[in-house]
Amino acid sequence: MNNSIVYKLTDKLYMIRYNDTEIKYFEALWEIPEGITYNSYLYLGEKTILFDTWKKGKCTEYIESIKKIIEPEKIDYLVIHHMEPDHSGCIKEIIKYNPNLTIISHPLVNKMIRTFYGINNYNFRAIKDNEVLEIGDAKLRFIYTPWLHWPETIMTYLEKDKILFSGDAFGSYSIPKEIYADKADKKYIEYMKKYFVTVIGHYRQHVLKNLEKLSKINIEPKIIAPLHGALWKDYSYLVELYSKWAKAVSDNNKVTIIYSSMYGYVEAMIKKIIDELTKRGCDVHIYKFTDTEHSFISEVLMDVIDSKAIILGTATYETGIFPYMRYIVQLLIDKVNSRKKMLIVTSYGWGGVAGRLLKKMLEQSQFEIIDIIEFNNTYTPEMFEKIVSVINKL
Ligand code: FEO
Repeated sequence: MNNSIVYKLTDKLYMIRYNDTEIKYFEALWEIPEGITYNSYLYLGEKTILFDTWKKGKCTEYIESIKKIIEPEKIDYLVIHHMEPDHSGCIKEIIKYNPNLTIISHPLVNKMIRTFYGINNYNFRAIKDNEVLEIGDAKLRFIYTPWLHWPETIMTYLEKDKILFSGDAFGSYSIPKEIYADKADKKYIEYMKKYFVTVIGHYRQHVLKNLEKLSKINIEPKIIAPLHGALWKDYSYLVELYSKWAKAVSDNNKVTIIYSSMYGYVEAMIKKIIDELTKRGCDVHIYKFTDTEHSFISEVLMDVIDSKAIILGTATYETGIFPYMRYIVQLLIDKVNSRKKMLIVTSYGWGGVAGRLLKKMLEQSQFEIIDIIEFNNTYTPEMFEKIVSVINKL
């Protein structure tokens, strides 16, 4: 199956994209049945400049795709925006075709190339932050954007053409049908949000710093070219989205419920809670871990980032928190940590402990625990009254 796309974006610029339909877990962690793309770009001016490569293991197809445009021996420069192997995986193959080409990147990248790929003989040009290089007819401004998504990450602004190569930032999961994204495509925006929270969510404070930095540099991109997913033409919309997600701004009405239920006791309580929330017109998103269904954790994170409140329901397991719930709460702390109201519901067979342990886990986070409702398997009418009063507080 041919998964590569070569697309002419401008007179001189091509996109070379791999549609990864086989991947199941991005970074071996995040469930992505929608797949992902790896985007590389090739500029054919007075000099030939390649921007990033593809994932390790896809290099034969990558070289074949480049050959549809130009002989790889003719590549003069390779700009590396990010060293994660989903983009740097074919550096070695590119150098084989032209050992004299020059790699341009952040100073940290020089050592990373050696340690990641065992390559020692190549030309490397380290760039300074906000440095401008004229390469043939191309004028490139290089901007350090640390922690989007690693410390060495940079963006490049092609000045005359007003194209911003944004690296992982503004990228997305899924394999878009169209080359350019449409902001009316709500499903695609959800995939972008899922990518943002799972991949960059941990560095949300750096996202805000980098957005501020970019706002002070005189750039007005007409095309934004990320390393994953569709390209964009609306830069201000992207800044707005990233700012909102980095601040974990809530949709006022949205509540996300995440629960585990081994024998249905927690689930019965959660159903009551869902009824109460629905009566109040809340937009309720439900994720569950039961003996018949396991939700995708990547989608839990996607929904939590813009929820007003979070409800955690967990069974007690081996005198502790049900393992999936412990893992999810740790991820919430790592990637979403923000001022959101939280209600904890736990059930136990012979000794309540999960609520106390969850409270301890969440103590140092910014989440605001409204209440912890613990019950001994079946719930009583008094407990139901309590639920109603707690939901009112939420
Ligand atoms: Fe798409 Fe951080 O790599």
